[in-house]
Amino acid sequence: MADAFILGIETSCDETAAAVVRSGEQIVSNVVFSQIATHQPYGGVVPELASREHLRAIVPVVRKALADAGQTYQSVDAIAVTQGPGLAGALLVGISYAKALAFALDKPLIAINHLEGHIHAVLLEERRKGNHELRFPVLALVVSGGHTHLYLAKREDNCWSYQNIGHTRDDAAGEAFDKVAKLLALGYPGGPIIDKLSIHGDPRAVKFATSQLKHRDRNERNPGASNGGPRFDFSYSGIKTAVLRYVETHDLQKSIAERRAALARMPQPKVDDRLSLCDKTTLDLVASFQRAMVEDLAAKTLAAARAYDVATLFVTGGVAANQKLRETFEQEAASAGLRVYFPSRPLSTDNAAMIAAAAYPKFLSRDFASMDFSAEAGMALR
Ligand code: KG4
Ligand code: ZN
Repeated sequence: MADAFILGIETSCDETAAAVVRSGEQIVSNVVFSQIATHQPYGGVVPELASREHLRAIVPVVRKALADAGQTYQSVDAIAVTQGPGLAGALLVGISYAKALAFALDKPLIAINHLEGHIHAVLLEERRKGNHELRFPVLALVVSGGHTHLYLAKREDNCWSYQNIGHTRDDAAGEAFDKVAKLLALGYPGGPIIDKLSIHGDPRAVKFATSQLKHRDRNERNPGASNGGPRFDFSYSGIKTAVLRYVETHDLQKSIAERRAALARMPQPKVDDRLSLCDKTTLDLVASFQRAMVEDLAAKTLAAARAYDVATLFVTGGVAANQKLRETFEQEAASAGLRVYFPSRPLSTDNAAMIAAAAYPKFLSRDFASMDFSAEAGMALR
């Protein structure tokens, strides 16, 4: 089989991204235009602004991905685009552009589930390193701003399929990082900031009760599973409320208001600026929050891995960039005799290389999209 160069396009949330990947294993170009600056003043993604920014960025971002790769519109073999899940208006920008390109250039069009993209980011990373061996069964934790999902992944020839065995009942893990950072006026997005500040605090200072991170339906059977296996669901709205209560009982409101005002005066605050605006109580709270989140994610994922007797763990999505999370999963997986793989940090957060990589097996099996498919904001992965 000759090499296939796939142009991937991703616009599901607040990153306009395009990439060219060769045969699912080599990133030839990878362009990510982040809208962080646009959404920062609001402390979260504003859907209407996201669509507008995607419209502005899509043409130059795709053009740059092709130029960086030494490719042209005509020379790529297929166009892959995220169909969902995500913000409907944002998804539509990428989908409309991809359809227009595929139609005008007479190229195959491939529709990709964003969550499958995150899973294939791990496979892309391993193939880049020359690791082509993969032991099944594989359990993948996709942990991002919108998702905390556990999937058993299977491959038959060029066809991948997924079975969901757990998800969050309320907030996603990344959403909890973002909301806690917003509550403490640390900045946006919260995950990377909390990651960096946590090393300066005592992770054992604040105890979060297990009921705040409760496994509400641990013994519930999995109705979607043919074997009726157990589900491993998550819940992260309780810990956010617990942080809020801690703020109230420890009189942190005044220092939070001061930090908010001080950061608002800085055009581009750095980690050290934020650090200098945090007292010990706040740093301890942040480090303890991160520890509780990471330990809960690892405990439930490892319990699911044992229950389903898997050989390999994938941990992917924006939160998989977290240093403490990587260390904890590595230790826990080693003691359980499991292999654990992560994407590199740039491939953990949203990007289009993962979309182009996920499209390669579909390209090989000629699993192409028709021109009438549309965005699916709540698209499930199967
Ligand atoms: O995968 P992603 O880029 O977009 C979604 O599909 O949601 O994930 C973004 C999420 C945000 O909630 C962000 O705060 C979180 O990932 N995140 C992190 C880190 N880097 C990004 N969370 C914890 N630690 C990090 N280092
Ligand atoms: Zn994502």
